[in-house]
Amino acid sequence: MAHPIAAITATAGYVPEYVLKNKELEGMVATNDDWIQSRTGIQERRILKGIGKGTSDMGAEAVRQLLTKQSLQASDIDLLICATVTPDHPFPSTANIICDKVGIRNIGSFDISAACSGFVYALTVARQFIEAGNAQRIIVVGADKMSSIINYNDRATCVLFGDGAGAVLVEKSENGLGIVDSLLKSDGAGRQYLYQKAGGSAYPATQESVAAKEHFVYQDGRNVFKHAVNGMATISQEIMQRNQLQSTQIDWFVPHQANKRIIDMVAKRLDLSEQQLMLNIQQFGNTTAATIPLCLWQWENQLKKEDKLILTAFGGGFTWGAIYLKWAY
Ligand code: ACO
Repeated sequence: MAHPIAAITATAGYVPEYVLKNKELEGMVATNDDWIQSRTGIQERRILKGIGKGTSDMGAEAVRQLLTKQSLQASDIDLLICATVTPDHPFPSTANIICDKVGIRNIGSFDISAACSGFVYALTVARQFIEAGNAQRIIVVGADKMSSIINYNDRATCVLFGDGAGAVLVEKSENGLGIVDSLLKSDGAGRQYLYQKAGGSAYPATQESVAAKEHFVYQDGRNVFKHAVNGMATISQEIMQRNQLQSTQIDWFVPHQANKRIIDMVAKRLDLSEQQLMLNIQQFGNTTAATIPLCLWQWENQLKKEDKLILTAFGGGFTWGAIYLKWAY
């Protein structure tokens, strides 16, 4: 008997109402709309406002939408995984809190921390549970409130990031379509180029750490840029080669949305045309774990059964990964 295949069977997404446009950033740091658009492709991003509002609030919105859309009860879900680097709290996990907020009880739920690669990591983990027969219906959430760890006095990072959440339902494929292959990689030596120094066990919060702005994202943009292009291009080539997939056979390439120039360079290395790309960076900026599920949600109506998709991401860690899937509906 052929082993079961895991498939995405529905998508949902949520972005907060507040739109932070490049023009508004011009009044906050020494930057301008031209620079931001030409160097990153970003026009605007969404920001979650409100005291006590966290990543789980956006994740819960996406999950509620998914349940309603599929006419599912909370009790129909048997695992929930949340990819995030901006958990509501160090513990409990944001997945636990999302479950509570939507009324899902007595199931396994946990977070995955793989920065911008988080959704690719989480979907790969969900795939294992389905293939092993240990879960029937899993929700994978990619959600980040990046505005909670961004220094809005640092022009090198504050123009890049936004807040948002995407969610997908993962079930056993009924038609042989779904996740065909996945590849995950990491290199912890890259952590020096992209990280949040304080707030963990190595450097717990102190008055000094707050004053030194060590609770914000630090990024060496040029270095991350180089590694991101190389990481996403190389891992996509590897997964394409081992599945005998030519560039022209890919219907949709879904890259992590960090910078339009990174995406363009990866697409060029893979010989992909603009029509094959999902791109929403202009609208939402880099929402970290949410970029890929938000793309799938926005493009869901254009996707056709049997379409061949490559998802790929690169992020802090360094972490990177790729998934090859055939759209199942
Ligand atoms: N507005 C105006 N000027 C700016 C800004 C800004 N917002 N930011 C930087 N500059 C200036 C710099 O100070 C520098 O000035 P100088 O030449 O006088 O020193 C000049 O612009 C060029 O700076 P670079 O850093 O070389 O600019 P670059 O073209 O590399 O673009 C960017 C910077 C957009 C950050 C780019 O490097 C990038 O996208 N890096 C990768 C981001 C990424 O992929 N992150 C990964 C995922 S994040 C995660 O995992 C959480």
